[in-house]
Amino acid sequence: MLSKSTLDIIGSASAAEGLALLANQYPGQVVFSSSLGQEDQVITDLIFRNQIPVEVFTLDTGRLFNETYELLERTNARYKTTIKVFFPEASDVEEYVQTNGINGFYESVENRKSCCYIRKVKPLNRALANAKVWVTGLRAGQSDNRKEMPVIEWDETRGLYKYNPLIQWSFDEMMDYINLHEVPYSRLHDQGFISIGCAPCTRAIESGEEARAGRWWWENSQKECGLHAGENKKQEAAQS
Ligand code: ADX
Ligand code: SF4
Repeated sequence: MLSKSTLDIIGSASAAEGLALLANQYPGQVVFSSSLGQEDQVITDLIFRNQIPVEVFTLDTGRLFNETYELLERTNARYKTTIKVFFPEASDVEEYVQTNGINGFYESVENRKSCCYIRKVKPLNRALANAKVWVTGLRAGQSDNRKEMPVIEWDETRGLYKYNPLIQWSFDEMMDYINLHEVPYSRLHDQGFISIGCAPCTRAIESGEEARAGRWWWENSQKECGLHAGENKKQEAAQS
C-alpha cells in the first residue's frame, strides 16, 4: 500500500509526475483506460511524451463511432504504439441481442445498463485483472457525480488504486494542452460532441447544455455506464 505521505505527494503533483511516481512504485501494473476522448488524449500524450511505462488500453464495445476508430489509428501512428483493444465476450453479445434486440438499450434503463455491462464493464474487469493502479481521464467539471472525486483513491471492490490525474483540470486547461502539443483528437469534438461514447447512445449537445447531456439523452438517469460505480465486481459475482 502507498503511505499517507506518498498519497499526499501524488495528490498535489502534476499529472506527469504522478503517473511517473506510480509507474515507479508499481512497475508493469499501472494501466490507463482510454476512451480516446479529449481528457484521455491528454493523458496518452503525457504518457508517451514523457516515456512513462504505463499500459494504454481501450474498450471497443463494437458500437463506437467510425471517427473513434480513425482516431485510434491516428493516435497509434502519432506515438508509434499499438494501444491494446479489449472486446466483449462474443457469447454475451449474442445472448443480449437474441433476448433484447440489436438496439434493445433504448427500451429501458435496465436494458441499457446490461448492454453497458457486457460491452464495457466486463471487458474492463478483464483489462484490470493484474493492475495495481487504474488511471482514468475523469474530470470534476464533467458532471455533478464527478465533482467530489479525489485525485487518487483506493478502490476496495477492485483491490487497486484509481488515479484520476486530470480530475481538477478545467475544460480550458485541457484544450490549451491539446492545442499547445497538437494532440490528435476526435473530429466529432468540432461538431458539437463533448463527451463521446457509443454511436447509438451519443448525440451532439446544444449551447448551454452540460457536457454529458448528449450521453443516453433519452434517459432520465444518472447517465453513467457503470465503469465508475464501484459496484461492478459485486454485480458480476451476483450474476455468475
Ligand atoms: S462513461 O462512464 O460515461 O463511459 P466517460 O466516457 O465519461 O465514461 O469516460 C470517463 C473515463 O472512463 C475515461 O476517461 C476513461 O478512463 C474511461 N472510459 C470510458 N469509456 C471507455 C472506453 N471505451 N475504453 C476505455 N476507457 C473508457
Ligand atoms: Fe450499449 Fe449504448 Fe452502453 Fe454502448 S453506450 S454499451 S451501445 S448501451
